[in-house]
Amino acid sequence: MDFNKIFENNEKWIASKLSINTNYFDQLAKGQAPEFLYIGCSDSRVTAEDLMGVQPGEVFVHRNIANQVIPTDTNVNAVVQYAVEHLQVKHIIICGHYECGGVKAALHPSDMGQLNSWLQTLRDVYRYHKDELDHIMDSQHKFERLVELNVIEQCMNIIKIDHVQRSWYKTGYPKVHGWVFNVKNGKLIDLQLNMEKEFSAIRSIYDIKPEG
Ligand code: CO
Repeated sequence: MDFNKIFENNEKWIASKLSINTNYFDQLAKGQAPEFLYIGCSDSRVTAEDLMGVQPGEVFVHRNIANQVIPTDTNVNAVVQYAVEHLQVKHIIICGHYECGGVKAALHPSDMGQLNSWLQTLRDVYRYHKDELDHIMDSQHKFERLVELNVIEQCMNIIKIDHVQRSWYKTGYPKVHGWVFNVKNGKLIDLQLNMEKEFSAIRSIYDIKPEG
């Protein structure tokens, strides 16, 4: 794509928004009150707003390679804190996707420079579930299962975060959801995780406000 085409596209987009509502950008500039925090992969094929069919102002978005929630990553922690404390989002979504290059790399050990440390947490997910994964003979199926297990693990990492737990104790929100986007057919799959149940199982280890 021609670089300048992007600015032409932008002008067309402005015109199309204004043709429907002449106050569109005045309203947009007033502020945001999204109900969703979406944490997904940086992959160019997995565009959060497009696949959810939502408009500017409706989703707070964080993307990184293979949708990781790493406890020492100040970036993701700041996003989660801001979304939970200030925007008071009702839902946090971790969205993985099939054909994820990051997940694929984690299945095949090699020296990838700066990516080594980033992919280490993904390799850890493989290690936690090695028995299950190594019993899957079909390599594509194994790849897709690691995508799903990574989403589950990152949802677990979300519920360990103090900001999320504090908000739970105060308001009962946010709800945490694990999704997978199937790039081969465009389908969004809800993994139907019960993160409240998951939290009660690990509470004795990770609860910041233990009972008693
Ligand atoms: Co990816």
